[in-house]
Amino acid sequence: MNYVFTLPRPFFVLAPMDDVTDTVFRQTVAQLAAPDLFFTEFVNVDGLMSPGRGKLLKKLRFAPEEKNLVAQLWGLKPENFKAIAEQIADGSLARELGLSGGCNFVGVDLNMGCPAKSEVQNGACSALIKKENRELAGQIIEATREGLADRLPLSVKTRLGFSEVDLSWFEFLLRKNLDMLTVHGRTRKEMSKVPAQWDLIGEVSKMRAQLAPQTLLVGNGDVESRAQGEQLAAQYGLDGIMVGRGVFANPLVFAAASPEKWEQYSKEERINLYRQQVTLFADTWQAGERNIKTLNKFCKVYINGFDGAVKMREQLMDAQTTAELLQLL
Ligand SMILES: Cc1cc2nc3c(=O)[nH]c(=O)nc-3n(C[C@H](O)[C@H](O)[C@H](O)COP(=O)(O)O)c2cc1C
Repeated sequence: MNYVFTLPRPFFVLAPMDDVTDTVFRQTVAQLAAPDLFFTEFVNVDGLMSPGRGKLLKKLRFAPEEKNLVAQLWGLKPENFKAIAEQIADGSLARELGLSGGCNFVGVDLNMGCPAKSEVQNGACSALIKKENRELAGQIIEATREGLADRLPLSVKTRLGFSEVDLSWFEFLLRKNLDMLTVHGRTRKEMSKVPAQWDLIGEVSKMRAQLAPQTLLVGNGDVESRAQGEQLAAQYGLDGIMVGRGVFANPLVFAAASPEKWEQYSKEERINLYRQQVTLFADTWQAGERNIKTLNKFCKVYINGFDGAVKMREQLMDAQTTAELLQLL
């Protein structure tokens, strides 16, 4: 049976975060305190089906040890969703990424929540929530399902609404026989500026019980510890909890003993962790596929919470190469 259906309850998921949750960071989190499920960064199917494919593949790259990874897709053309879903389900995309021995993604997720202007103005991602785009949202779901042909589970990650909360969106999605649905408890308009509305995720949970008890439901927004996630899952009847930015404040967020455990990490242990991540980054992206500046987000995560951290960060963030960075560390 597919891994996704064998997950414990509640299961914990590291949220997809563009330019953050690449294979390097996922492996780092897995070593520290692994969630049950990972997502890739979102990757554009229309781009993957264009001459620009080579450049985008880095977003899907993963290591053979990563056994529980869902590929997240976005785009506009249903036929491209179908084609990429086919390539994922039959394992050909994983082979193109250099993976062998049947190593593959465990599912495909559709991004219907990203609020960025560049995506939304073309009608993609969170714009699919709008009533006028619902037909296209349905076509994208059906095309992806056709491509997967029951070989891998299909899920959607979305928000509570576009300009305002719109529960009709969930009535629509829950009638699509999805394997999993992740609800980020904010509207597109709210971006990340207001606290996540868990009571409304609870409303979606009630709808799920009525319309689609077979669809796994995952709640997302502002979760900072495993204990808090467990409490929210119990309170709102959810199967899973997704954590995004909480991992920046505490890389051990998925561990049972967090958050106290991270606070006890010494300066040396923190520097060592960053060194390990930079080393893996240098080994993985040898052709410079990733800008070194994407590491600066992690610098703030590890080089933090001890005397002299601010000054050390300033130096580290100025480094122009990974060799320089490692030397400084
Ligand atoms: C830097 C960053 C990048 C993100 N990229 C994606 C993405 O590629 N796909 C996606 O579905 N959500 C993306 N998100 C949204 C997160 O997955 C998550 O829904 C959001 O951060 C709320 O969860 P949190 O409060 O636990 O962070 C991103 C968020 C951040 C902060």
